[in-house]
Formats: sequence, C-alpha cells, structure tokens
Amino acid sequence: MTARESDVNPFLKGNFAPWRLEGTAEDLEVSGAIPRDLNGTFYRNGPNPAYEPRGRYHWFDGDGMIHAITLRDGRAAYRNRWVASDGLKEERAAGQALFPGLLEIEPSENLRFKVTANTNIVVHAGKLLALVEAALPTQMAPGTLDTIGLYDFGGKLSGPMTAHPKMDPVTGEMLFFGYSPFPPYLQYHVADRSGALVRSDVIDIAWPSMIHDFAVTEDYVVFILCPLVFSVEKAATTGKLFSWEPERGTRIGVIPRSGGNADVRWYETDASYVFHPMNAYAEHDAIVLDVSRYNALHFMDPDRDRETSIGDDEAARLHRWRIGLGRGGGITSTPLDDTSGEFPRVDERRVGRKHRFGYLAVNTPGDIERREVWSSIKKYDFERGTGVERRFGDGNGVGEPLFVPRRPDAEEDDGYVLALVYDRARNASDFYVLDARDIAGEPVAVVHIPNRVPYGFHGNWVAA
Ligand SMILES: [Fe+2]
Repeated sequence: MTARESDVNPFLKGNFAPWRLEGTAEDLEVSGAIPRDLNGTFYRNGPNPAYEPRGRYHWFDGDGMIHAITLRDGRAAYRNRWVASDGLKEERAAGQALFPGLLEIEPSENLRFKVTANTNIVVHAGKLLALVEAALPTQMAPGTLDTIGLYDFGGKLSGPMTAHPKMDPVTGEMLFFGYSPFPPYLQYHVADRSGALVRSDVIDIAWPSMIHDFAVTEDYVVFILCPLVFSVEKAATTGKLFSWEPERGTRIGVIPRSGGNADVRWYETDASYVFHPMNAYAEHDAIVLDVSRYNALHFMDPDRDRETSIGDDEAARLHRWRIGLGRGGGITSTPLDDTSGEFPRVDERRVGRKHRFGYLAVNTPGDIERREVWSSIKKYDFERGTGVERRFGDGNGVGEPLFVPRRPDAEEDDGYVLALVYDRARNASDFYVLDARDIAGEPVAVVHIPNRVPYGFHGNWVAA
C-alpha cells in the first residue's frame, strides 16, 4: 500500500498541516494589552486542503481558509472559515478530493479546476475578496466569512485576477492584472474608487509566464517578466509545465498609468525570479523598485526534490532595481541584504510612493532543517540603511508582517506590526501586536488563538 501524501509531504505536516475545524472564539486570552486605538479585523488567507490530496500536493493547491482576528476595545475574537468554492462543495458532496493539484494536472484549454481562492484577502469599495491568481475573485461576507460567490465586477471581468492588486492610497483605485498561459497572456485592469471596472487593456509580453505580483507608482505600472516560461507544448514531451530559461533574462515593463500597450517600455536585467515586490516609487527620472529576488526558480519541476518545490535553495533576498526613464535609461541592480526573506510589505499609505520603512519575514539559520518557512521578521530603515530583526524562537514560524498605523494621519512607522506566529510548545498560534518602532522589544500584546493557524500566505487589516 502506498503512503498517504499527508504522511510524506512536508507541506502537509507540522504547522503546514491543514486545520479542519471552522469556528469562532470570543474574548481570547491576551498577554499584554491590546491598544485601544487598534480596532478592526486582520484577515489572513492560506491553503488548507479539506480532503487528503488525490496525488502529489503542492503548497499552492490547498483550499483557501480565511482566519480573522477582530480587535475591539482591547478585546480579541477569532473566526475561521473555508472559502466554500463550487469545487469544494462538489468535494464535500463526494466526501473526498476530486481535483488534481498543480503537480498532477494535464494542461488544456478546457481544464476544469477548483477556484481555491487561497492566496490573499483584500477589501476594496466595501467588498471583501479572497484571491487566487488563476481565477476570478471570490466575494466573502466580512462579518460571518460566508462565501458569497465568484465576483466579476458586474460581468465586466472575464479573465483571472492577480492575488496582489494595489490600492492607490490617494485615488482609491484598485489596480490589478491577470495573466494566463493562453493568449492574451497579460491584461491590466483598473477599478475606480467605487469598485467599477473602468479599464481593461491587453499588454503584449514576450512569453507567457507566472506573474504573481506587480508594482505601481503614482504615474506608472511596473510588470516583472521572469524567465519562468509556461509551455503547453513542452509539457507534452517533458512533463514540465514551466521551464526556467535564464538565457532570456528578466524583463521589466514600465507603462504610464495614463497610457496603454503602445506605451510600454521594456528593460532587461539579469535572470531572476520575483514573487513579491516590496514597493516602487518615482525618484528624479527613475523608478525605484524594491523586490524579494530569487536567482532562479524551479517551480513545479518534477525533477527537483519535493522539498525544494517552492525553491528553498534559491533563497529570496531584498534587492533594489533603479530603472532610468530618460533617454538611454537602463537598470541598475543593488542587493540590499544577505538575509533570506519574503512577503515584503510597506505601510499601505506608501504604496507607489517613496517608503522609508519596509517589513518582511526572514529566515533564521536552521529554518529549512526545522521545516519552518520563516521564523523572524525584519524591519528595514532605508534612509539609515539599517535593519532590526525579531526572532520568535526555534520552530516557531512566522508569517507575513503587516504594518498598521496608529492613526490614519500617523507618521510612517508610527504604529503596529501584526503577525501570526506558531507556538510549537502550545501547538497553537499567537497573534502578535508589536510596536513598529521597537519590533525586537516587548510585544504590545500577544493574542492566544485556541488553535493552530497553518502557515499561509497573505493578509490585510481592515480598520473598524
Ligand atoms: Fe503572494
């Protein structure tokens, strides 16, 4: 008898293992004191397979589960619900997994797949949207976390939507894109402050690729086209849906927000892969683009060991590209840190504007052996060129750090850094509220969640 996937796959073990109970818990135990000025809900999304996978499991495969921590008047409550996709409903009716994962799918134009909506959860124009880059958004009810259903902007969006839209802090617009392995490979979209989809443009790219995220400035949109090439033809012969082709280099496309496909300028730099930019902004006649940069990414390569299937030997490092917009402009490339880190974030009020501070989840030596993704968070001060790290202890992995300002008009970095941390001793998760100006110091508050929150992807804060 062959082993069950959950017995052998590290992404189904420890705090990667799914949490299969949905529920609510009021008035949670808290160490320290939740600030009275911090009222709202932290939403976090991540993969949480409802059933034992049918075959090989990839971390990106699991059904989305939303974990919500609501802080109000110094008290905390928790709620978690699956994204009840049509695919998951079918599986519930069957009592077992029905859909193949990324490592098992046979690509074709009419592929049936499950909209896991497992990657991010955002609010725009009052709508709470769970996102996965292969599909339309899934609308969720903010209070109950009930799944409302697929959301297509009133019939206007026909293709997939990235899990990383950008909210312009001044205009209130939501800028996003969708990519596809089939033409059109890339489409750029804008929803206005009211949530109406007001623009959809096809953008020509040199090859189809997995484009996970992008960046914006006040005046430009920036796409990063990496040499991770999607090829259905090659898949038929090699069994590889994606191939890493570094000879192509990495291309960065800059488009004026007021322009379109005809106005794109492409710049070339060394082959690299980027899941997540930290932010971008204009400076003089250039765009500064900070990213978590991998030297290579062997994504979904079945020849690679299963434990490296998210590329842990190609660690991501914080890196700055400066893209000269003037005549003869090119890219200068500057590594910013040796520390391996991912999930970079800035103060959401600085999106597209110059940021002084940035926050990301980083590795501590031994994380790979302990099978944690990240066990520290790090704050950078780019003006001073300094970084401060906070560790959470061996085996206590941490997720994406999120900055929340103390008040809407507070200065950058005057506020809190929120993060979910696994407490191995308790086999449950804690929600940390750190003073952003002293992230290594005594936490402001630690909310003790009664259960594990499996390691996941992205989250956001919605102020009350
Ligand atoms: Fe992401």
